Amino acid sequence: MRPTVAIVDYGSQYTQVIARRVRESRVYGEVFPHDVTPAELAARGVVAVILSGGPASVYDEGAPGIDPAILDGRWPVLGICYGMQLMAHVLGGEVVAEGKREYGPATVTIDEHGALFDGLAPRERAWMSHGDSVQRLPPGFRAIASTGRLATAAMSDGAKRFGVQFHPEVAHTPRGGEVLRNFLFRVCAVRGDWTAAAFVDEAVREIQAEIGDGHAICALSGGVDSAVAASLVARAIGDRLTCVFVDTGLMRANEATEVVATFGAPEGGPRLRLVHVDAAERFLSRLSGVEDPEGKRAIVGEEFIRVFEGEVAMIARADRRLDHIVHGTIYPDVIESKSPGSKTSARIKTHHNVGGLPADMTLRNVEPLRRLFKDEVRRVGAELGIPGDILWRHPFPGPGLAVRIVGPVDREKLDVLRCADAIFLEELRAADWYRKVAQAFAVLTPVRSVGVQGDFRTYGHLVALRAVTTDDFMTADWARLPYDLLERASSRIVNEVPSVNRVVYDVSSKPPATIEWE
Ligand code: XMP
Repeated sequence: MRPTVAIVDYGSQYTQVIARRVRESRVYGEVFPHDVTPAELAARGVVAVILSGGPASVYDEGAPGIDPAILDGRWPVLGICYGMQLMAHVLGGEVVAEGKREYGPATVTIDEHGALFDGLAPRERAWMSHGDSVQRLPPGFRAIASTGRLATAAMSDGAKRFGVQFHPEVAHTPRGGEVLRNFLFRVCAVRGDWTAAAFVDEAVREIQAEIGDGHAICALSGGVDSAVAASLVARAIGDRLTCVFVDTGLMRANEATEVVATFGAPEGGPRLRLVHVDAAERFLSRLSGVEDPEGKRAIVGEEFIRVFEGEVAMIARADRRLDHIVHGTIYPDVIESKSPGSKTSARIKTHHNVGGLPADMTLRNVEPLRRLFKDEVRRVGAELGIPGDILWRHPFPGPGLAVRIVGPVDREKLDVLRCADAIFLEELRAADWYRKVAQAFAVLTPVRSVGVQGDFRTYGHLVALRAVTTDDFMTADWARLPYDLLERASSRIVNEVPSVNRVVYDVSSKPPATIEWE
């Protein structure tokens, strides 16, 4: 079983960051809800426990707690902020409300380096964000660090249980990474051998056990997640996996050809059994005359399900043992809605790039990437031999170019937009800007404006270019692209795309705008 570090979630905004830091140390870490039991931890191969911070006070009614047996010394434990207060509270110490929150940088004096603070200076900068503090240590514990304000900025039982009031996981604690690595490697003595190759080996074994001698299907969208999920499952069960690529006719330039060339190629690359469905006609005829963006989304979503279901039915007729469906769900899609204090079970949001897959399908879900962050998915993809162009592709909305043409969609407009978009992306790549932005694309607006070309007056399309930077796509800023890059893109678009005579750059942030125009 894979040795796992459990990160127990108390609702801190940094819980996922702790998991990231652990995995960056090549140790497998996973977030667990606070009501996890010792038996569950043992069954999952947990070798160490980190308790996250959180907004509660241990004295709040319904404050999230912990099964005391997790703290009885059988596992090394690191409590962070609320996690440390909870440890102190449960193990017989005393936590007090300070009346005033401490939020921001502090200087921590390390009174006893030991294994946890090995290699750190006597005084270090650290990030604080707390209201309560540990006033009296639990029996057997001693303070190992302090600040001008806190007698106990960190505590230890002299063996394997530690608490830190500050947040070692955030960048504002410059040496925090070392504290976490000390905990993992010096205190817990775990091995840092969790790599993409190791993940692939384990995942292949798990998928083989999960699918047995059954057959699986996967909707390949052209995006990185479904590509990696499909390649991983193909590695595990070979041609008992069938991938379906539905070409909606709303894809970017060359996208369909690239997917087919990469995954359906007879030689080289990760070969998949691929069914390519050219459904452009169906999508375009249903979209004809539709202006409302939500209407377009609904049509594309519905139509996708119909086409996909039709294919699944055909494959199932030919191969009666089709019993699994592969999804490219990744860790951030898996929302642990177990908010502290609640007993509700984790809600899993199974994303599909289009409108979701049929709810009544009787196929069992296989989600081989459900515990990976995006950059880990890319590393696994590289390990599987998927080309960089696919691994680094910007996200693309399921309704595709239908929501990048403002107003009704038709073939002519799709062609215009595809050309303009391809030029913009080509120029971004050539200038080394493609990977510096999170998403970039062209939009075809319904505006027509007057221009002049040679001796002729023109009345052409207005294309808007959009490039954004963002961490999470919830908020975003417009990318400060160099003027000469914009100039090259604009001049190529008006020269090479016949009906476009004007290009503008979108300088709105989200909010109040959104990333897409529709
Ligand atoms: P907005 O425009 O809401 O976009 O700022 C945030 C992110 O979501 C993508 N997006 C979609 N993805 N189906 C999708 O699969 C959709 O209908 C859809 N609408 C927006 C958008 O491209 C951006 O990455």
